[in-house]
Amino acid sequence: MKIPFLSLKDVTALHGEEINEAVSRVVNGGWYLQGKENEQFETNYSVFIGTKYTIGCANGLDALIWIFRAYIEMGVMQPGDEVIVPANTYIATILAITENGLIPVLCEPKANTLEIDDERIEGLITPRTKAIAIVHLYGRIAYTEKIDQLCKKYNLKLVEDNAQAHGCQYTDGRMTGSIGDAAGHSFYPGKNLGALGDGGAVTTNDPELAAAVRALANYGSQKKYVFKYAGRNSRLDEIQAAVLDVKLKYLVTDNLHRKEVAHYYYEHLNNPLVTLPDLLPDEQNAYHLFPILVGDGRRDALHDYLDRNGVGTVCHYPIAPHKQECYAKEGWNTPQLSLPITERLADEELSLPIGPAITLEEVAEVVRLVNAFK
Ligand SMILES: Cc1ncc(COP(=O)(O)O)c(C=O)c1O
Repeated sequence: MKIPFLSLKDVTALHGEEINEAVSRVVNGGWYLQGKENEQFETNYSVFIGTKYTIGCANGLDALIWIFRAYIEMGVMQPGDEVIVPANTYIATILAITENGLIPVLCEPKANTLEIDDERIEGLITPRTKAIAIVHLYGRIAYTEKIDQLCKKYNLKLVEDNAQAHGCQYTDGRMTGSIGDAAGHSFYPGKNLGALGDGGAVTTNDPELAAAVRALANYGSQKKYVFKYAGRNSRLDEIQAAVLDVKLKYLVTDNLHRKEVAHYYYEHLNNPLVTLPDLLPDEQNAYHLFPILVGDGRRDALHDYLDRNGVGTVCHYPIAPHKQECYAKEGWNTPQLSLPITERLADEELSLPIGPAITLEEVAEVVRLVNAFK
């Protein structure tokens, strides 16, 4: 049996007919940018997330870049200010900070949740700290009451990176993406809500931020040929918006399937080399990925063994951001930071197949193989 890590072809086929209709509608309609499809998707996504505004943009990295840039344009932050960010994240979260001349202050995760360790945040706050960026990594909730209290106590903005957690909710029912002051979303094809190419969005309840982001992503213009900011072209195109609007309707049911898969893994994986992060209540995990930690330096061996047996797995992420060449010479990383928990996760994490299209029979085969690994 061949079990890919994620078959995008199968994922698209789940709603293939409607997606094809939506694409044809746009193709034949002759209007490809900044039109009704974007309007419709933005309205529906705002309702789903629970914010007043959604601003579609080119990708998830840009969404995060625009949030920080908007805060700079608004005078809330200035280059050189600090943003606390999890060390264990996809590097895009940190790129959005450094791209704006802000200083990332990396915070270790909790080993049992893999998310930012809220007990360590206060010790990282300085007079230059302007924001905490949280990342709901792997689809798991990263927000805590304590983070909220710290933001209030120190007057910090809370920025959510919701690239991996569409459909995840906090205990009180709020969707991730509506909890902080602003959130960046990615619609990269493999995400829970994935386009057929690149796509992203910012969600917020702040009208000033929303207007700034919308302008920044459109060359800096609010009015045709009038430029308030030196922005860029970073828009979501009409075809992607139409596809996303179809897939949004099925996001909750698609996520339910992910939950079923995840529960199967939690109940049946029993290899002593493998540790699972704490099981969260269902609503608090959108199960974008299913990360396991493989001990005894055996992660790569498990990956290769599964690969030989036809199962695709991916490591998220093998080199921690502070160990990347691009940050080797930065002042905030000189001498290079030592972040042992993050570094251990980079050595031990392996993501098993999960998605809306994988069958439980396939999941059972993955479990059988992992449990048989020595
Ligand atoms: C946590 C996280 N942040 C940001 C991004 C960037 O999104 P994009 O690939 O759409 O630029 C991604 C995904 O790729 C991500 O996983």
